Amino acid sequence: MIDLLLGLQWGDEGKGKIVDVLTNKYDIIARFQGGPNAGHTLEFEGNKHVLHTIPSGIFHDAAINLVGNGVVIDPVIFKKELEKLEPYNLDLRNKLLISRKAHLILPTHRLLDQASEAAKGSAKIGSTLKGIGPTYMDKTGRNGIRIGDIEAPDWKEKYRSLTDKHLQMIENYRVEVQFDLKTLENEFFEAIETLKQLQFIDSEHYLEKQQRQSKKILAEGAQGSLLDIDFGTYPFVTSSNTTAAGACTGLGIAPNRIKNVIGIFKAYTTRVGSGPFPTELFDQDGETLGRVGNEFGATTGRPRRCGWLDLVALKYAITVNGVTELNMMKADVLSGFKTIKVCTHYKYKGELIDHLPFDVDEKYVEPVYEELKGWNADLTGMRDVNELPTELHDYVTYLEKALEVPITIVSVGPDRTQTLFRNS
Ligand code: GDP
Ligand code: IMO
Ligand code: MG
Repeated sequence: MIDLLLGLQWGDEGKGKIVDVLTNKYDIIARFQGGPNAGHTLEFEGNKHVLHTIPSGIFHDAAINLVGNGVVIDPVIFKKELEKLEPYNLDLRNKLLISRKAHLILPTHRLLDQASEAAKGSAKIGSTLKGIGPTYMDKTGRNGIRIGDIEAPDWKEKYRSLTDKHLQMIENYRVEVQFDLKTLENEFFEAIETLKQLQFIDSEHYLEKQQRQSKKILAEGAQGSLLDIDFGTYPFVTSSNTTAAGACTGLGIAPNRIKNVIGIFKAYTTRVGSGPFPTELFDQDGETLGRVGNEFGATTGRPRRCGWLDLVALKYAITVNGVTELNMMKADVLSGFKTIKVCTHYKYKGELIDHLPFDVDEKYVEPVYEELKGWNADLTGMRDVNELPTELHDYVTYLEKALEVPITIVSVGPDRTQTLFRNS
């Protein structure tokens, strides 16, 4: 049995927290796409931990964590992640598996990302500059280097020829990118040796075998549905399929094996990086959401743009993913607002619509809001849904009705324990 967990907005919905909370129900947690552009924050027992490539079930002894073939791995960042896990004494050799088909991010992929963004000027994507785009380009361009390749003795020749090509490409961008390749390469090859201490596996076969043994698998998504390469706000997206179908290609699992699709959303909306964001706020309310929600990117530290919940975009994400249950995060951040706005429609080129159009540009799209009553209570100490204020209860039931999907978790703080279960 395979369940899927993914973000329904522009990322940072709180996926890491919920995967960590749900891991005790699963045998295997498997990341299916993205790379160290992700930052998944977990808080428990006074620890705060940010994971980038390693799946968010890693702190549970009983679970196996798999980095799937759809993921792109930067050995340098991966090594740092492993070092940060050292104090926890986890049995990583047996608990953390890597697909041989996952692609490697080379130092020059990061430099290419930088050059590409610099060349775009004000039209830049706002990339995390982790080399994600260039690595997926080499994957689809059939030039990439995979984890399985580094087990072969001649892989450094492949590395050299790809790197030489990248250096040429960087020059062609005609922008200034400063780097010291020797230092970058030393760091890279050292990290490769660390990586080799883990188990590389043919993960599609492994997952098939585990399913035959009735093991429970949770596929963990990164980024959010609106950053999907096909269905997101293109070109201001990431370079992988962040939506449900990405789990099939990113792990080698068949669509008919997927049971529940858990969609994670914030009680409001955030976005980090460039691109359209119809409900973005530039006023005091936006400032309050950012401050109370501590909205700074977990990977880059950049402030996240904040706005009200956008039901038009959320419905779109629910449909594309086939979401069967919703988890609403950061309800505590909305405490103290007299009224809470929810975008139900867009005014698009003069017409009232309730679907996400081809062009979400603010030139064409104006959000239309409904106002709901706010509440003024500290939710962070609450441990049962029945304690929640009536107005929040009304907010949740309003959303369930509008979205036609049950909300099974309301999150009231970053810690594991600040997770309230409904209807279960
Ligand atoms: P992810 O990328 O989807 O895993 O999310 P991030 O970790 O990038 O961002 C979510 C942020 O919100 C993190 O700092 C979490 O610790 C925090 N967080 C998660 N759930 C809640 C919640 O219910 N309330 C509050 N206040 N913070 C939360
Ligand atoms: P998690 O998994 C939020 C955004 C970047 C940029 C765009 C492209 O923590 O939710 P990229 O580096 O992929 O080329 O950047 O996507 N982005 C994210 N925003 N959360 C993420 O991951 C993101 N990963 C990428 O800010 O706008
Ligand atoms: Mg994040």
